[in-house]
Amino acid sequence: MNTTIIKNGTIVTASETYEADILIKGETIVQIGREFPEEGADVIDAAGRYVFPGGIDPHTHLEMPFGGTVTRDDFETGTIAAAHGGTTMVIDFCLTGKDKPLEESIQEWHDKSKDKAVVDYSFHLMIGEMNETVLNQLPGIIEEHGITSFKVFMAYKNVFQADDETLFETLLAAKDLGALVMVHAENGDVIHYLTEKALAEGKTEPIYHALTRPPEIEGEATGRAAQLTALADSQLYVVHVSCQEAVEKIADARRKGAAVFGETCPQYLALDQTYMEKPNFEGAKYVWSPPLRDKKNQELLWKAIQSGDLQTIGSDQCSFDFHGQKDLGIDDFTKIPNGGPMIEDRFSIIYSEGVAKGRISLQKFVEITSARAAQLFGLSPQKGAIAVGSDADLVIFNPGVTRTISVDTHHMAVDYNAFEGMEVQGEVETVLVRGKAVVRNKETVGKPGSGRYMKRKTFQNLNAPTKAETLI
Ligand code: URP
Ligand code: ZN
Ligand code: ZN
Ligand code: ZN
Repeated sequence: MNTTIIKNGTIVTASETYEADILIKGETIVQIGREFPEEGADVIDAAGRYVFPGGIDPHTHLEMPFGGTVTRDDFETGTIAAAHGGTTMVIDFCLTGKDKPLEESIQEWHDKSKDKAVVDYSFHLMIGEMNETVLNQLPGIIEEHGITSFKVFMAYKNVFQADDETLFETLLAAKDLGALVMVHAENGDVIHYLTEKALAEGKTEPIYHALTRPPEIEGEATGRAAQLTALADSQLYVVHVSCQEAVEKIADARRKGAAVFGETCPQYLALDQTYMEKPNFEGAKYVWSPPLRDKKNQELLWKAIQSGDLQTIGSDQCSFDFHGQKDLGIDDFTKIPNGGPMIEDRFSIIYSEGVAKGRISLQKFVEITSARAAQLFGLSPQKGAIAVGSDADLVIFNPGVTRTISVDTHHMAVDYNAFEGMEVQGEVETVLVRGKAVVRNKETVGKPGSGRYMKRKTFQNLNAPTKAETLI
Protein backbone atom coordinates (compact mmCIF):
# COMPACT_ATOMS: atom_id res chain seq x y z
CA MET A 1 0.00 0.00 0.00
CA ASN A 2 1.38 3.44 -0.92
CA THR A 3 2.31 5.75 1.91
CA THR A 4 2.21 9.51 1.43
CA ILE A 5 3.13 12.15 3.98
CA ILE A 6 2.19 15.80 3.66
CA LYS A 7 4.41 17.68 6.04
CA ASN A 8 4.90 21.21 7.36
CA GLY A 9 1.58 22.45 5.99
CA THR A 10 -1.19 24.45 7.65
CA ILE A 11 -4.31 22.30 7.75
CA VAL A 12 -7.57 24.13 7.25
CA THR A 13 -10.93 22.49 7.93
CA ALA A 14 -14.45 23.83 8.39
CA SER A 15 -13.82 24.11 12.13
CA GLU A 16 -10.12 24.92 12.65
CA THR A 17 -6.71 25.93 11.29
CA TYR A 18 -3.60 24.22 12.70
CA GLU A 19 -0.17 22.97 11.79
CA ALA A 20 0.37 19.24 11.49
CA ASP A 21 1.49 16.52 9.12
CA ILE A 22 -0.86 14.08 7.41
CA LEU A 23 -0.11 10.39 7.02
CA ILE A 24 -1.92 8.70 4.14
CA LYS A 25 -1.99 4.98 3.49
CA GLY A 26 -3.52 3.95 0.22
CA GLU A 27 -6.62 6.11 -0.25
CA THR A 28 -7.21 7.14 3.34
CA ILE A 29 -5.94 9.59 5.94
CA VAL A 30 -4.71 7.32 8.75
CA GLN A 31 -3.07 9.77 11.12
CA ILE A 32 -2.60 13.49 11.69
CA GLY A 33 0.42 14.43 13.83
CA ARG A 34 4.14 14.93 13.61
CA GLU A 35 7.31 13.06 12.74
CA PHE A 36 5.97 10.15 10.78
CA PRO A 37 8.69 7.73 9.56
CA GLU A 38 9.47 8.77 6.01
CA GLU A 39 11.16 5.65 4.72
CA GLY A 40 9.40 4.34 1.65
CA ALA A 41 6.91 7.19 1.73
CA ASP A 42 6.21 9.83 -0.89
CA VAL A 43 6.83 13.02 1.07
CA ILE A 44 5.23 16.28 -0.04
CA ASP A 45 6.58 19.40 1.64
CA ALA A 46 3.76 21.88 2.21
CA ALA A 47 5.71 24.53 4.11
CA GLY A 48 4.07 27.93 3.73
CA ARG A 49 1.03 26.28 2.15
CA TYR A 50 -2.54 25.66 3.21
CA VAL A 51 -3.81 22.09 3.06
CA PHE A 52 -7.55 22.16 2.32
CA PRO A 53 -10.06 19.32 1.94
CA GLY A 54 -10.54 18.78 -1.79
CA GLY A 55 -13.24 20.96 -3.25
CA ILE A 56 -16.63 19.40 -4.01
CA ASP A 57 -18.40 21.01 -6.94
CA PRO A 58 -22.07 20.06 -6.54
CA HIS A 59 -23.17 21.51 -9.89
CA THR A 60 -21.62 20.59 -13.23
CA HIS A 61 -22.84 19.84 -16.75
CA LEU A 62 -20.15 17.83 -18.54
CA GLU A 63 -20.76 16.59 -22.08
CA MET A 64 -24.29 17.94 -21.81
CA PRO A 65 -26.50 18.37 -24.88
CA PHE A 66 -28.20 21.78 -25.02
CA GLY A 67 -29.80 23.82 -27.80
CA GLY A 68 -28.67 21.49 -30.59
CA THR A 69 -25.04 21.34 -29.44
CA VAL A 70 -23.00 19.70 -26.67
CA THR A 71 -20.83 21.35 -24.01
CA ARG A 72 -17.16 21.53 -24.98
CA ASP A 73 -15.84 20.05 -21.76
CA ASP A 74 -16.48 16.38 -21.15
CA PHE A 75 -15.66 14.25 -18.13
CA GLU A 76 -12.00 14.16 -19.13
CA THR A 77 -11.15 17.80 -19.90
CA GLY A 78 -13.70 19.02 -17.37
CA THR A 79 -12.36 17.00 -14.45
CA ILE A 80 -8.70 17.73 -15.33
CA ALA A 81 -9.61 21.42 -15.21
CA ALA A 82 -11.55 20.83 -11.98
CA ALA A 83 -8.50 19.21 -10.39
CA HIS A 84 -6.25 22.11 -11.38
CA GLY A 85 -8.82 24.32 -9.71
CA GLY A 86 -8.71 22.40 -6.42
CA THR A 87 -11.81 20.26 -6.95
CA THR A 88 -11.58 16.55 -6.16
CA MET A 89 -15.22 15.62 -6.72
CA VAL A 90 -18.02 16.80 -8.97
CA ILE A 91 -21.71 16.00 -8.97
CA ASP A 92 -23.07 16.21 -12.50
CA PHE A 93 -26.67 16.49 -13.63
CA CYS A 94 -27.99 13.41 -15.41
CA LEU A 95 -30.64 14.62 -17.86
CA THR A 96 -33.63 12.39 -18.49
CA GLY A 97 -36.21 12.16 -21.27
CA LYS A 98 -39.97 11.83 -21.37
CA ASP A 99 -41.08 8.19 -21.43
CA LYS A 100 -37.46 7.02 -21.33
CA PRO A 101 -36.56 4.66 -18.51
CA LEU A 102 -34.51 6.57 -15.93
CA GLU A 103 -32.07 3.68 -15.81
CA GLU A 104 -31.25 4.27 -19.49
CA SER A 105 -30.35 7.92 -18.87
CA ILE A 106 -28.22 7.02 -15.88
CA GLN A 107 -26.42 4.41 -17.97
CA GLU A 108 -25.74 7.08 -20.60
CA TRP A 109 -24.12 9.24 -17.92
CA HIS A 110 -22.07 6.29 -16.67
CA ASP A 111 -20.91 5.65 -20.25
CA LYS A 112 -19.89 9.30 -20.71
CA SER A 113 -17.86 9.41 -17.52
CA LYS A 114 -16.35 5.94 -17.25
CA ASP A 115 -12.63 5.82 -18.11
CA LYS A 116 -12.58 9.60 -18.40
CA ALA A 117 -12.86 11.33 -15.04
CA VAL A 118 -9.72 12.10 -13.02
CA VAL A 119 -11.65 13.22 -9.93
CA ASP A 120 -14.42 11.36 -8.13
CA TYR A 121 -17.94 11.98 -9.33
CA SER A 122 -21.60 11.30 -8.78
CA PHE A 123 -24.89 12.24 -10.43
CA HIS A 124 -28.05 14.13 -9.59
CA LEU A 125 -31.11 12.90 -11.47
CA MET A 126 -33.42 15.22 -13.41
CA ILE A 127 -37.14 14.63 -12.92
CA GLY A 128 -39.04 16.04 -15.89
CA GLU A 129 -42.43 14.59 -15.06
CA MET A 130 -43.58 12.70 -12.00
CA ASN A 131 -45.92 9.77 -12.48
CA GLU A 132 -46.42 6.22 -11.21
CA THR A 133 -43.78 4.79 -13.56
CA VAL A 134 -41.15 7.32 -12.48
CA LEU A 135 -42.03 6.99 -8.82
CA ASN A 136 -41.66 3.21 -8.93
CA GLN A 137 -38.14 3.49 -10.32
CA LEU A 138 -36.77 5.80 -7.64
CA PRO A 139 -36.15 3.38 -4.73
CA GLY A 140 -34.14 1.10 -7.03
CA ILE A 141 -32.10 4.04 -8.33
CA ILE A 142 -31.23 5.17 -4.81
CA GLU A 143 -30.28 1.62 -3.88
CA GLU A 144 -28.30 0.75 -6.99
CA HIS A 145 -26.70 4.09 -7.98
CA GLY A 146 -26.72 5.97 -4.69
CA ILE A 147 -28.39 8.94 -6.38
CA THR A 148 -30.04 10.83 -3.54
CA SER A 149 -30.79 14.19 -5.16
CA PHE A 150 -33.42 14.96 -7.78
CA LYS A 151 -33.42 18.05 -9.99
CA VAL A 152 -36.54 19.84 -11.14
CA PHE A 153 -36.33 22.68 -13.67
CA MET A 154 -38.90 25.46 -13.21
CA ALA A 155 -37.60 27.13 -16.40
CA TYR A 156 -36.64 26.22 -20.01
CA LYS A 157 -40.24 25.90 -21.20
CA ASN A 158 -40.81 23.15 -23.77
CA VAL A 159 -37.36 21.72 -23.01
CA PHE A 160 -36.64 20.77 -19.39
CA GLN A 161 -39.38 22.65 -17.53
CA ALA A 162 -41.60 20.67 -15.16
CA ASP A 163 -44.94 21.85 -13.83
CA ASP A 164 -45.74 22.55 -10.18
CA GLU A 165 -47.53 19.22 -9.79
CA THR A 166 -44.31 17.44 -10.68
CA LEU A 167 -42.32 19.65 -8.33
CA PHE A 168 -44.74 19.00 -5.48
CA GLU A 169 -44.89 15.25 -6.08
CA THR A 170 -41.10 15.12 -6.29
CA LEU A 171 -40.88 16.91 -2.94
CA LEU A 172 -43.30 14.38 -1.42
CA ALA A 173 -41.39 11.43 -2.87
CA ALA A 174 -38.06 12.87 -1.69
CA LYS A 175 -39.38 13.17 1.84
CA ASP A 176 -40.31 9.48 1.86
CA LEU A 177 -37.11 8.33 0.19
CA GLY A 178 -34.60 10.58 1.96
CA ALA A 179 -33.58 12.58 -1.09
CA LEU A 180 -32.86 16.26 -1.59
CA VAL A 181 -34.85 18.09 -4.28
CA MET A 182 -32.89 20.63 -6.29
CA VAL A 183 -34.57 23.37 -8.30
CA HIS A 184 -33.57 25.70 -11.07
CA ALA A 185 -35.83 28.47 -9.83
CA GLU A 186 -36.96 30.86 -12.55
CA ASN A 187 -40.52 31.27 -13.80
CA GLY A 188 -40.26 29.65 -17.24
CA ASP A 189 -43.72 30.66 -18.41
CA VAL A 190 -43.14 34.37 -17.81
CA ILE A 191 -39.68 34.14 -19.40
CA HIS A 192 -41.33 32.54 -22.43
CA TYR A 193 -43.76 35.46 -22.68
CA LEU A 194 -41.05 38.10 -22.28
CA THR A 195 -38.68 36.50 -24.79
CA GLU A 196 -41.38 36.18 -27.47
CA LYS A 197 -42.25 39.83 -26.94
CA ALA A 198 -38.61 40.95 -27.13
CA LEU A 199 -38.00 39.03 -30.37
CA ALA A 200 -41.20 40.42 -31.91
CA GLU A 201 -39.83 43.90 -31.14
CA GLY A 202 -36.58 43.05 -32.92
CA LYS A 203 -34.54 42.87 -29.71
CA THR A 204 -32.03 40.14 -30.52
CA GLU A 205 -28.74 41.04 -28.76
CA PRO A 206 -27.29 39.03 -25.84
CA ILE A 207 -28.30 41.63 -23.23
CA TYR A 208 -31.95 40.75 -23.87
CA HIS A 209 -31.28 37.37 -22.34
CA ALA A 210 -30.88 39.23 -19.04
CA LEU A 211 -33.68 41.72 -19.61
CA THR A 212 -36.21 38.94 -20.29
CA ARG A 213 -35.25 37.08 -17.08
CA PRO A 214 -35.45 39.83 -14.44
CA PRO A 215 -34.70 39.05 -10.78
CA GLU A 216 -38.39 39.07 -9.80
CA ILE A 217 -38.80 35.94 -11.93
CA GLU A 218 -36.14 34.17 -9.90
CA GLY A 219 -37.54 35.47 -6.62
CA GLU A 220 -41.05 34.32 -7.50
CA ALA A 221 -39.98 30.79 -8.44
CA THR A 222 -37.70 30.50 -5.40
CA GLY A 223 -40.52 31.57 -3.09
CA ARG A 224 -42.95 29.17 -4.76
CA ALA A 225 -40.56 26.24 -4.44
CA ALA A 226 -39.83 27.11 -0.80
CA GLN A 227 -43.55 27.30 0.04
CA LEU A 228 -44.24 23.97 -1.63
CA THR A 229 -41.35 22.48 0.32
CA ALA A 230 -42.82 23.70 3.60
CA LEU A 231 -46.23 22.32 2.60
CA ALA A 232 -44.72 18.94 1.74
CA ASP A 233 -42.52 19.06 4.85
CA SER A 234 -39.68 18.09 2.54
CA GLN A 235 -36.22 19.41 1.69
CA LEU A 236 -35.04 21.76 -1.04
CA TYR A 237 -31.75 22.99 -2.48
CA VAL A 238 -31.97 26.01 -4.77
CA VAL A 239 -29.17 25.98 -7.35
CA HIS A 240 -27.38 29.03 -8.77
CA VAL A 241 -28.97 31.76 -6.66
CA SER A 242 -28.07 35.09 -8.26
CA CYS A 243 -29.99 37.91 -6.59
CA GLN A 244 -31.50 39.55 -3.54
CA GLU A 245 -35.05 38.55 -4.55
CA ALA A 246 -34.15 34.85 -4.30
CA VAL A 247 -31.92 35.10 -1.22
CA GLU A 248 -34.75 36.77 0.69
CA LYS A 249 -37.12 33.86 -0.04
CA ILE A 250 -34.53 31.30 1.10
CA ALA A 251 -33.70 33.26 4.25
CA ASP A 252 -37.39 33.65 5.04
CA ALA A 253 -38.10 29.93 4.63
CA ARG A 254 -35.10 29.03 6.80
CA ARG A 255 -36.18 31.44 9.54
CA LYS A 256 -39.51 29.61 9.59
CA GLY A 257 -37.66 26.32 10.07
CA ALA A 258 -37.97 24.86 6.57
CA ALA A 259 -35.17 22.66 5.25
CA VAL A 260 -34.33 25.01 2.39
CA PHE A 261 -30.75 25.45 1.23
CA GLY A 262 -29.13 27.70 -1.36
CA GLU A 263 -26.13 27.60 -3.66
CA THR A 264 -24.55 30.51 -5.48
CA CYS A 265 -21.76 30.51 -8.08
CA PRO A 266 -18.50 32.43 -8.57
CA GLN A 267 -19.88 34.22 -11.62
CA TYR A 268 -22.60 35.95 -9.58
CA LEU A 269 -20.01 37.04 -7.00
CA ALA A 270 -17.39 38.34 -9.41
CA LEU A 271 -19.16 39.44 -12.63
CA ASP A 272 -22.18 41.62 -13.31
CA GLN A 273 -24.73 42.35 -16.01
CA THR A 274 -22.60 44.95 -17.81
CA TYR A 275 -20.52 42.07 -19.22
CA MET A 276 -23.52 41.09 -21.33
CA GLU A 277 -23.45 44.47 -23.04
CA LYS A 278 -19.98 43.92 -24.52
CA PRO A 279 -19.82 44.84 -28.22
CA ASN A 280 -19.25 42.48 -31.17
CA PHE A 281 -21.51 39.83 -29.70
CA GLU A 282 -18.96 39.26 -26.87
CA GLY A 283 -21.85 39.54 -24.43
CA ALA A 284 -22.81 36.01 -25.56
CA LYS A 285 -19.86 34.64 -23.57
CA TYR A 286 -21.78 35.63 -20.44
CA VAL A 287 -25.17 34.21 -21.36
CA TRP A 288 -26.35 31.73 -18.76
CA SER A 289 -29.38 31.32 -16.54
CA PRO A 290 -30.12 32.98 -14.23
CA PRO A 291 -28.36 35.90 -15.91
CA LEU A 292 -25.67 38.11 -14.41
CA ARG A 293 -27.23 40.78 -12.19
CA ASP A 294 -26.69 44.36 -11.15
CA LYS A 295 -23.42 44.68 -9.21
CA LYS A 296 -25.21 45.55 -5.97
CA ASN A 297 -26.21 41.90 -5.62
CA GLN A 298 -22.59 40.79 -5.16
CA GLU A 299 -22.13 42.11 -1.60
CA LEU A 300 -25.55 40.82 -0.73
CA LEU A 301 -24.61 37.30 -1.83
CA TRP A 302 -21.37 37.46 0.19
CA LYS A 303 -23.40 38.51 3.24
CA ALA A 304 -25.78 35.59 2.70
CA ILE A 305 -22.78 33.24 2.60
CA GLN A 306 -21.43 34.74 5.81
CA SER A 307 -24.76 34.53 7.59
CA GLY A 308 -25.42 30.96 6.46
CA ASP A 309 -28.49 31.79 4.36
CA LEU A 310 -26.55 30.34 1.41
CA GLN A 311 -24.51 27.23 2.11
CA THR A 312 -22.57 26.17 -0.98
CA ILE A 313 -20.82 27.34 -4.13
CA GLY A 314 -21.36 25.38 -7.33
CA SER A 315 -19.66 26.21 -10.60
CA ASP A 316 -22.63 25.47 -12.88
CA GLN A 317 -19.91 24.46 -15.35
CA CYS A 318 -21.57 24.35 -18.76
CA SER A 319 -19.04 25.42 -21.37
CA PHE A 320 -19.68 26.36 -24.99
CA ASP A 321 -17.10 27.81 -27.36
CA PHE A 322 -17.58 31.44 -28.33
CA HIS A 323 -16.77 30.56 -31.94
CA GLY A 324 -19.02 27.88 -33.35
CA GLN A 325 -21.36 27.41 -30.38
CA LYS A 326 -22.31 30.70 -28.69
CA ASP A 327 -22.59 32.23 -32.16
CA LEU A 328 -25.53 29.97 -32.98
CA GLY A 329 -27.41 32.90 -31.46
CA ILE A 330 -25.79 35.73 -33.39
CA ASP A 331 -29.18 36.83 -34.76
CA ASP A 332 -31.35 35.69 -31.86
CA PHE A 333 -30.29 35.66 -28.19
CA THR A 334 -32.65 32.75 -27.44
CA LYS A 335 -30.45 30.51 -29.59
CA ILE A 336 -27.24 31.24 -27.63
CA PRO A 337 -26.46 28.04 -25.69
CA ASN A 338 -26.81 28.85 -21.98
CA GLY A 339 -23.84 28.32 -19.73
CA GLY A 340 -20.26 29.22 -18.95
CA PRO A 341 -16.86 27.66 -18.23
CA MET A 342 -16.51 27.83 -14.46
CA ILE A 343 -15.26 24.50 -13.14
CA GLU A 344 -11.59 25.52 -12.95
CA ASP A 345 -11.83 28.91 -11.27
CA ARG A 346 -14.43 28.25 -8.55
CA PHE A 347 -11.94 27.66 -5.72
CA SER A 348 -9.57 30.47 -6.80
CA ILE A 349 -12.21 33.13 -7.13
CA ILE A 350 -13.84 32.28 -3.83
CA TYR A 351 -10.47 32.27 -2.06
CA SER A 352 -9.28 35.47 -3.67
CA GLU A 353 -12.49 37.50 -3.57
CA GLY A 354 -13.63 35.93 -0.31
CA VAL A 355 -10.75 35.06 2.02
CA ALA A 356 -8.00 37.32 0.65
CA LYS A 357 -10.34 40.33 0.58
CA GLY A 358 -11.52 39.66 4.14
CA ARG A 359 -15.12 38.83 3.29
CA ILE A 360 -15.07 35.28 4.68
CA SER A 361 -12.89 33.26 7.04
CA LEU A 362 -10.80 30.24 6.08
CA GLN A 363 -13.33 28.04 7.88
CA LYS A 364 -16.22 29.48 5.89
CA PHE A 365 -14.17 28.94 2.73
CA VAL A 366 -13.86 25.21 3.46
CA GLU A 367 -17.50 25.03 4.49
CA ILE A 368 -18.82 26.51 1.22
CA THR A 369 -16.36 24.90 -1.19
CA SER A 370 -16.42 21.42 0.30
CA ALA A 371 -17.71 20.46 3.75
CA ARG A 372 -21.32 21.57 3.42
CA ALA A 373 -21.79 19.98 0.00
CA ALA A 374 -20.45 16.71 1.46
CA GLN A 375 -23.05 16.86 4.25
CA LEU A 376 -26.00 17.88 2.08
CA PHE A 377 -25.27 15.33 -0.64
CA GLY A 378 -24.58 12.29 1.55
CA LEU A 379 -20.78 12.14 1.26
CA SER A 380 -19.75 13.08 4.77
CA PRO A 381 -17.44 12.17 6.56
CA GLN A 382 -15.76 10.31 3.71
CA LYS A 383 -15.44 13.54 1.72
CA GLY A 384 -15.17 17.22 2.67
CA ALA A 385 -13.01 16.66 5.74
CA ILE A 386 -9.40 16.27 6.82
CA ALA A 387 -9.85 13.61 9.46
CA VAL A 388 -8.62 10.13 10.28
CA GLY A 389 -10.63 7.70 8.16
CA SER A 390 -11.64 10.24 5.53
CA ASP A 391 -10.58 9.92 1.90
CA ALA A 392 -7.25 11.64 1.28
CA ASP A 393 -8.76 14.25 -1.07
CA LEU A 394 -6.44 17.17 -0.44
CA VAL A 395 -5.42 20.46 -2.00
CA ILE A 396 -2.06 22.08 -1.36
CA PHE A 397 -2.54 25.77 -1.92
CA ASN A 398 0.01 28.57 -1.97
CA PRO A 399 -1.68 31.72 -0.64
CA GLY A 400 1.40 33.85 -1.21
CA VAL A 401 1.30 34.25 -4.99
CA THR A 402 -0.89 36.11 -7.42
CA ARG A 403 -1.77 34.95 -10.89
CA THR A 404 -3.87 36.13 -13.80
CA ILE A 405 -6.71 33.97 -15.09
CA SER A 406 -6.58 33.40 -18.84
CA VAL A 407 -7.75 31.12 -21.62
CA ASP A 408 -4.05 30.79 -22.51
CA THR A 409 -3.28 28.92 -19.30
CA HIS A 410 -6.55 27.29 -18.28
CA HIS A 411 -7.15 23.56 -18.74
CA MET A 412 -10.74 23.66 -19.96
CA ALA A 413 -11.34 22.78 -23.62
CA VAL A 414 -13.39 25.90 -24.28
CA ASP A 415 -12.07 28.85 -26.33
CA TYR A 416 -12.53 31.65 -23.77
CA ASN A 417 -12.42 32.28 -20.03
CA ALA A 418 -15.20 34.34 -18.48
CA PHE A 419 -12.73 35.76 -15.93
CA GLU A 420 -10.05 36.64 -18.54
CA GLY A 421 -7.45 39.05 -17.15
CA MET A 422 -8.67 38.84 -13.56
CA GLU A 423 -5.86 38.77 -11.02
CA VAL A 424 -6.37 36.33 -8.17
CA GLN A 425 -4.50 35.75 -4.95
CA GLY A 426 -3.31 32.19 -4.28
CA GLU A 427 -2.68 29.17 -6.42
CA VAL A 428 -3.45 25.45 -6.35
CA GLU A 429 -0.20 23.50 -6.58
CA THR A 430 -0.83 19.86 -5.79
CA VAL A 431 -4.08 17.90 -5.62
CA LEU A 432 -4.61 14.40 -4.28
CA VAL A 433 -7.69 12.32 -4.96
CA ARG A 434 -7.93 9.36 -2.55
CA GLY A 435 -4.21 9.62 -1.83
CA LYS A 436 -3.09 9.77 -5.42
CA ALA A 437 -1.72 12.94 -7.01
CA VAL A 438 -3.79 14.15 -9.93
CA VAL A 439 -1.99 17.49 -10.11
CA ARG A 440 1.59 17.75 -8.83
CA ASN A 441 3.34 21.13 -8.78
CA LYS A 442 0.75 22.41 -11.26
CA GLU A 443 1.36 19.56 -13.73
CA THR A 444 -1.38 17.08 -14.66
CA VAL A 445 -0.32 13.63 -13.46
CA GLY A 446 -3.73 11.96 -13.07
CA LYS A 447 -4.88 9.38 -15.58
CA PRO A 448 -8.33 9.48 -17.16
CA GLY A 449 -10.47 6.85 -15.49
CA SER A 450 -8.80 7.21 -12.08
CA GLY A 451 -11.86 9.11 -10.78
CA ARG A 452 -14.40 6.87 -9.10
CA TYR A 453 -18.18 6.94 -9.19
CA MET A 454 -19.48 7.60 -5.67
CA LYS A 455 -22.76 6.23 -4.39
CA ARG A 456 -24.22 8.69 -1.92
CA LYS A 457 -26.14 8.29 1.34
CA THR A 458 -29.67 9.56 1.87
CA PHE A 459 -30.38 13.11 3.03
CA GLN A 460 -29.99 14.08 6.66
CA ASN A 461 -31.30 17.42 7.79
CA LEU A 462 -28.46 19.11 9.58
CA ASN A 463 -30.66 22.07 10.44
CA ALA A 464 -32.69 19.80 12.65
CA PRO A 465 -31.47 19.40 16.23
CA THR A 466 -29.18 16.44 16.77
CA LYS A 467 -30.14 13.59 19.09
CA ALA A 468 -27.75 14.97 21.72
CA GLU A 469 -29.39 18.39 21.52
CA THR A 470 -32.90 17.00 21.94
CA LEU A 471 -31.79 15.07 25.03
CA ILE A 472 -30.56 18.21 26.80
O1 URP B 1 -27.22 28.62 -18.12
C1 URP B 1 -27.01 27.62 -17.45
N1 URP B 1 -27.00 27.72 -16.15
N2 URP B 1 -26.84 26.44 -18.07
C2 URP B 1 -26.75 25.18 -17.46
C3 URP B 1 -28.09 24.60 -17.17
C4 URP B 1 -28.66 25.17 -15.91
O2 URP B 1 -29.66 25.86 -15.97
O3 URP B 1 -28.11 24.94 -14.85
ZN1 ZN C 1 -30.09 25.83 -14.01
ZN1 ZN D 1 -26.65 24.16 -14.08
ZN1 ZN E 1 -17.56 33.12 -34.36
